[in-house]
Amino acid sequence: MPAEVLRLRGVGVRRDDTMMLADVDWVVHEDERWVIVGPNGAGKTTLLQVAAGLILPTEGLVEVLGEPVGHADLDELRSRVGIASAAVADQVPRGEKVIDLVLTASYGLLGRGGEDYDSFDVIRAVELLDAFGCAHLIRRRFGTLSEGERKRVQIARSLMADPELLLLDEPAAGLDLGGREDVLGRIAAFAHDPRSPVLVLVTHHVEEVPDGFTHAMLMRRGMVLAAGRVGEVFTEKNLSRCFGVPLIVERLATRWMARAVPPR
Ligand SMILES: Nc1ncnc2c1ncn2[C@@H]1O[C@H](COP(=O)(O)OP(=O)(O)O)[C@@H](O)[C@H]1O
Ligand SMILES: [Mg+2]
Repeated sequence: MPAEVLRLRGVGVRRDDTMMLADVDWVVHEDERWVIVGPNGAGKTTLLQVAAGLILPTEGLVEVLGEPVGHADLDELRSRVGIASAAVADQVPRGEKVIDLVLTASYGLLGRGGEDYDSFDVIRAVELLDAFGCAHLIRRRFGTLSEGERKRVQIARSLMADPELLLLDEPAAGLDLGGREDVLGRIAAFAHDPRSPVLVLVTHHVEEVPDGFTHAMLMRRGMVLAAGRVGEVFTEKNLSRCFGVPLIVERLATRWMARAVPPR
């Protein structure tokens, strides 16, 4: 049995009177690639932040990479888990240079603070930017990038520390059709590569699930509606319940499509 990378038991996150997450049970193994799908406000970003050690749950138990998550080991954990999320990108200073943004990830930092980088790190940062089609942006400031360019730079950054677990929060949101397909293609290639870290990708569109993803979790109102192999979870019944609309769901080759049942 492949090793467990994530284990959540009875996990809840309460803010004031709302449960942003409630009673989440979830186990991810080393050879799996997961998508988390659900409408806006379902708790997907909150769940990723829990898995990255950026938020501690108010209830339940979390184990990441075999270690129980407590206050003491969060820094170590954060260096082993890569995350690309608008929730993190919002904290990047607008004037930050792209190359520095990627380089600082090896120290788990946001914002360059006078560290010295060796040329090995610089080469790796440029290679990662190149792998996501943005080597030409290295001297640009993060604040001047388009939405699509920001997404790619964030993914490159999330890989810089060579994470064992990679969490991608809506990597295709805000991209045009060509940009979306390009990024999904790169993630699919990554998902198929056995040397890649374990991947968890969040989206609210089944069309944005790349090829190569093996498992899916559906979320609604902070809770898990269904979890398991993609083909068993992405049924019309499950997805209709998840989004609160009767849906027609189709699989076309390696991708998925959903639309509302037309009125009669
Ligand atoms: N800091 C916060 N305080 C209170 N509620 C929040 C906070 N951040 C998010 N929420 C709420 O928690 C719920 C889950 O949010 P989120 O995890 O961002 O959902 P998703 O990523 O699925 O759209 C939403 O209802 C959102 O409004
Ligand atoms: Mg979100």
